[in-house]
Amino acid sequence: MTNNKIVLLTGSSRGLGRATAKNIAAFNEPITLLATSRKAENLNLKGTHKDTIIEYPQLDILDKASIDSLYNDIVKKYGRVDVLINNAGSTFEESDNSTFGPEAVKKTFDLNYYAVVNTIEKFIPIIPAGGRVVNLSSQASHQADFPNADLKARIFDNKLTIPQLNALAKEYESASNNTDGSDGWLKDGFYPAYGTSKAFVNFLTACEARAHPEIKFNALCPGTCATELASGLPEALKTKTADEGTRLILRLGFGDIDNVNGKFWAGRSTADTGPGHVIENWSGGEITWDYKNNEVPTALFTSSAK
Ligand SMILES: NC(=O)c1ccc[n+]([C@@H]2O[C@H](COP(=O)([O-])OP(=O)(O)OC[C@H]3O[C@@H](n4cnc5c(N)ncnc54)[C@H](OP(=O)(O)O)[C@@H]3O)[C@@H](O)[C@H]2O)c1
Repeated sequence: MTNNKIVLLTGSSRGLGRATAKNIAAFNEPITLLATSRKAENLNLKGTHKDTIIEYPQLDILDKASIDSLYNDIVKKYGRVDVLINNAGSTFEESDNSTFGPEAVKKTFDLNYYAVVNTIEKFIPIIPAGGRVVNLSSQASHQADFPNADLKARIFDNKLTIPQLNALAKEYESASNNTDGSDGWLKDGFYPAYGTSKAFVNFLTACEARAHPEIKFNALCPGTCATELASGLPEALKTKTADEGTRLILRLGFGDIDNVNGKFWAGRSTADTGPGHVIENWSGGEITWDYKNNEVPTALFTSSAK
């Protein structure tokens, strides 16, 4: 059995995942990095520490058979995962609400929420006490402030379980059949399905931390980074590089987190390249948007988007 820290990273092929893999490989400590991607892409990374091992297994988080197969291989070869980084994610709508609807919600939730639940639930049995799970969320989650009092009470219930959260996700899918927002679900503004899916990542992080307090689960916004996911956004919004965006990912996976568990972390603004902090009141917004050269894009935000 190796003494290396075993790190499982999803979505390593590009963007933040690729930059995270590169920066973990550069650690001067022995790591076994499983930099996964759908096409098992070889990133040709070289570990800085002489005992570091880097592998590129196949993992499509939408495919339960792919998750099972990787799990079985890891159990046989390493027996555990010390750090799981759920980075893979995407958006399936335009930045305004023009393409919002059941199809966008389903695709977005399948990848950004259910696939992350499935990955976490599969690997939890082999994450030892003291292990860490890092979930990529987003500043966009802050728009989901659930203004309907009944919904708010149900979704912010601090005894919420994963099955209850799954049922709430199904409720959002049904609610996306109409555009009437009086039910409290986010249906307009900036990437409404994406923002809601990332709010669910924050809730999921809190639920898992309550259920498994021996493991540290935390979620984060990396800031607005110039990656393929952000390619449709105005230049003024792409304030960070993918490398800069990995700072909080690395902190929550490997750095000092002061024993915090189940929280959402971010910088003070979407451009902040500092070490980040816990955002207690993420719903309704606490982080400010920053733009390159203060060029605020006028066409981007509609109706309730902040
Ligand atoms: N960029 C930002 O400003 C920003 C801000 C907030 C949050 N985030 C979050 O950060 C994470 C990474 O985003 P990014 O900006 O780096 O996006 P990106 O450049 O589009 O990369 C997304 C990654 O996810 C992978 N992926 C997609 N579907 C997958 C699947 N079914 N199974 C496994 N991997 C899959 C992609 O791999 P393939 O090559 O196989 O498609 C790719 O490696 C996402 O969760 C995103 O929501 C990004």
